[in-house]
Amino acid sequence: MGAFSGRGIPRHVGIIMDGNGRWAKRHGMARTQGHLEGLKAAKRIVKAASDMGIGYLTLYVFSTENWKRTAAEVGFIMGLVRQYLRGEMDFCRENHIRVRHAGDAAGLPEDIAAEIAETVEDTKEFGGMQVILALNYGGRDELVRAVRRLVAKGAADGGLLNAAEEDIAACLDNPDIPDPDLIIRSAGEYRMSNFLLWEGAYAELYVSAKLWPEWTDADLAAAVGEYRNRDRRYGGIAANGE
Ligand code: IPE
Ligand code: IPE
Ligand code: MG
Repeated sequence: MGAFSGRGIPRHVGIIMDGNGRWAKRHGMARTQGHLEGLKAAKRIVKAASDMGIGYLTLYVFSTENWKRTAAEVGFIMGLVRQYLRGEMDFCRENHIRVRHAGDAAGLPEDIAAEIAETVEDTKEFGGMQVILALNYGGRDELVRAVRRLVAKGAADGGLLNAAEEDIAACLDNPDIPDPDLIIRSAGEYRMSNFLLWEGAYAELYVSAKLWPEWTDADLAAAVGEYRNRDRRYGGIAANGE
């Protein structure tokens, strides 16, 4: 089979952007410098994904566990978000990119939460790719908040005791967004690190040894190319019956 002879491109891609710290270390720099380069890589990949026609791109920016890092590193990452998010309006407008947020906004510094809310609002009419920033995001945390929303609503067909998958899915952070088809992780670690635990139930996984700051269009194309040749069975049997 040729590289692109299989299925279509993924509708939704999630990326665990890992390896900023290792990249910095390898270049004899401070970890913070790695995050700055990681941001540049994220911009490259957003553009590449949008040009490729991917519908949704979820970027794992900061996990609910990343608060364990030093105050200086956490502060630097939050500073990057604060500094760059609003500055990207022109880029979003040019590329019709709609920005969304996944994660607990209430646990973020107030100004950052407000800035995200503004960006989400200002881009909500853009009809191109949706970029979901997973910021103060944890898959378990999202599920806890979903269950709380479900309980607060008090309604599932047939009552809470009969709650079904759809009732929980409807209470996730972005219930209208389809599940990720492909989850990519850079920097070689074979783990989920609390990313999209519910939504990623049947995502195809792609791990690359390349550190995130080094990612280019070609790396995204390679991941998508491999995805296109995967046999997705969802617990069933292959289309050819094997
Ligand atoms: C990913 O890079 C960025 C965040 C988690 C915020 P890391 O900072 O985890 O880089 P490594 O894993 O230490 O190399
Ligand atoms: C996952 O990377 C979180 C993000 C990329 C934002 P980590 O570096 O935090 O994950 P672990 O600690 O290696 O599992
Ligand atoms: Mg890491």
